[in-house]
Amino acid sequence: MSKQVFKPNKEFSKNARIKNMCEYQDLQDFAAEDYEGFWGSYAKEKLEWIEPFTNVLDESNAPFVKWFDGGKLNVSSQCIDRHLDSRKNKAAIIFEGDRGDKQIITYLELYYNVNKLANLLKEDFGVQKGDRVVIYMPMIPEAAYAMLACARIGAIHSIVFGGFSSEALKDRIEDAEAKVVITADGAYRKTKPYMLKPVVDAAIDENSPVKKVLVVERNNEDVTWVAGRDYSYNELIKNKSGVCEPEVMDAEDPLFLLYTSGSTGKPKGVQHNSAGYILWAQMTMEWVFDVKENDTYWCTADVGWITGHTYIVYGPLAMGATTVMFEGVITHPDAGRPWKMVEEHRINQFYTAPTAIRVLHKMGEHEPAKYDLSSLKVLGTVGEPIDPPAWKWYYEEVGASKCAIVDTYWQTETGGHVVSPLPGATPIKAGCATLPLPGIMAEILDPATGELAEPGETGYMCITRPWPSQIRGVWGDPERYIKSYFGDVKKDGKAVYFTGDGARYDEDGYITITGRTDDVINVSGHRMGTAEVEAAIKKHPNVAEVAVVGKPHDIKGEGIFAYIVLKSDKGVADEVEEVKAINKVIQKEIGNIALCDDMVFAPGLPKTRSGKIMRRILRAIAKGEEITQDISTLEDPSIVETISTMVNK
Ligand code: PRX
Repeated sequence: MSKQVFKPNKEFSKNARIKNMCEYQDLQDFAAEDYEGFWGSYAKEKLEWIEPFTNVLDESNAPFVKWFDGGKLNVSSQCIDRHLDSRKNKAAIIFEGDRGDKQIITYLELYYNVNKLANLLKEDFGVQKGDRVVIYMPMIPEAAYAMLACARIGAIHSIVFGGFSSEALKDRIEDAEAKVVITADGAYRKTKPYMLKPVVDAAIDENSPVKKVLVVERNNEDVTWVAGRDYSYNELIKNKSGVCEPEVMDAEDPLFLLYTSGSTGKPKGVQHNSAGYILWAQMTMEWVFDVKENDTYWCTADVGWITGHTYIVYGPLAMGATTVMFEGVITHPDAGRPWKMVEEHRINQFYTAPTAIRVLHKMGEHEPAKYDLSSLKVLGTVGEPIDPPAWKWYYEEVGASKCAIVDTYWQTETGGHVVSPLPGATPIKAGCATLPLPGIMAEILDPATGELAEPGETGYMCITRPWPSQIRGVWGDPERYIKSYFGDVKKDGKAVYFTGDGARYDEDGYITITGRTDDVINVSGHRMGTAEVEAAIKKHPNVAEVAVVGKPHDIKGEGIFAYIVLKSDKGVADEVEEVKAINKVIQKEIGNIALCDDMVFAPGLPKTRSGKIMRRILRAIAKGEEITQDISTLEDPSIVETISTMVNK
């Protein structure tokens, strides 16, 4: 059955940057006919170059590609300096703290704050171009200053989400060989202080590459200070100069690393470079959110994820927009908090994850009606498929059936949106990311033939030409970059970028993302490698074997389901205690975000005779589905029945 189609709001379309599907098609055609002309013209128009580029795209060493070779620029200047003539007193960042405290930072203030921190990093810590700086911060403006200060001096930042444990932080520090960590004593959550500095302390020992830690004093709780290593940002920043000449960077100099989960245990340091990344961050802000000069835009993500990088900091600031940063929890003090903020700040574009929408719907179905949400024009979702009931509530109750919903499909590796509706042009359907953005050659391919998938058939979501904001490499592991992304699908004999997601076209050529095809699960829009969780669980001394799979979850989209085989001499004495102990290990190794929703202590796992765990069977059991595949080839077919009975009891 065809899905209901919602046409763009006519009033909105009149002033939108892309007003209708003809304009969309023209842009698509331009890119298809003259790919380099398309990207080259936008790069000239949108970015301020210190020296112009001489070549648009160099594919001679594909899949290692270069964009805008010869060009020189600085990303912090793109985000700040070039706005100073026309927008120096405009709000760059509106900060709302957990306890309702507010702060407005103008572009001029941002300029001074970033420069001071850039000078601090250079003068006091000796940070130089190319050095790695780990940022482990709460959602406070200083997190944005830290990112931009690194960009200003050419240091490569690597943000680690504040919910990760000290072990996870340590791994990422070591992999990147970071010499500095920027953190905070802590922050506030649901009005109570919570701490970050002790996690940093536990992640750094005498062998750590980190020699200096800069601490923003946010909640002023007591923390331990290590002499000669730890310094107060609040103190050091006082006498720094507010002027710092931006480092002249090559278009392809690295801007940041962001670690993300893959199908093996170790997270990958996804590398993004300067010019191509900032270009697409800005273009998608303009096209997909259609932010106008006087608008106020709010993305609820955390800067620890790619969404926070591209759509809280880099994209909005590159286009000179006003971006809201929120420290708190959207359901605190009640599920009306975001709508209260929309009313108070007159938010025009609101961007969040389906998990958040489901929680807000469940906890506060009628909350939106209590507030004036008439400022809203565009609503966005990201990170996971959105289910029709959540979509409908978002569209009708939050958007009053007049706002476009942009279901933006993308990944850490794509740097910015790749498949998404355009709010003034694209007719939308619930739960559908719709069409590739102009310039992005996103295609669903049949992995066996490399041909376009037939409508209704699930194929592999691929991008068949390089694009400016694409991942440039996996930090320190070029082989893994090739293997992870360019090994599975070939089109016309040439390896193309495979996202890891399945997808299908409908009868109108619209794209629906069906989810990961690999051993990656998506918990509340956060990517989690099953191998990563398994590696953590295996650290518990009683665990002999473990297999982790995803299981549909009402709120989180997917939950984590672990099948655990304990060592034979250690039967399950007390299941509740065992679960607690294993969860503690997960907390220590990864953090609360990886806690299991279900754990089953099984006597064994379904394996082939060669020892391969049959995860498909385990997934089916977790979902309560009937097992349809042949199990006679298993080493011990009876284990399937045993585990099913345990799960269903
Ligand atoms: O599976 C897809 C899902 O999130 C994955 C990317 O996760 P991450 O790199 O953490 O970035 C999340 C924020 C961009 C994808 O491989 N995903 C992302 N957006 C959507 C989605 N699934 C369905 N619909 C989306 N709009």
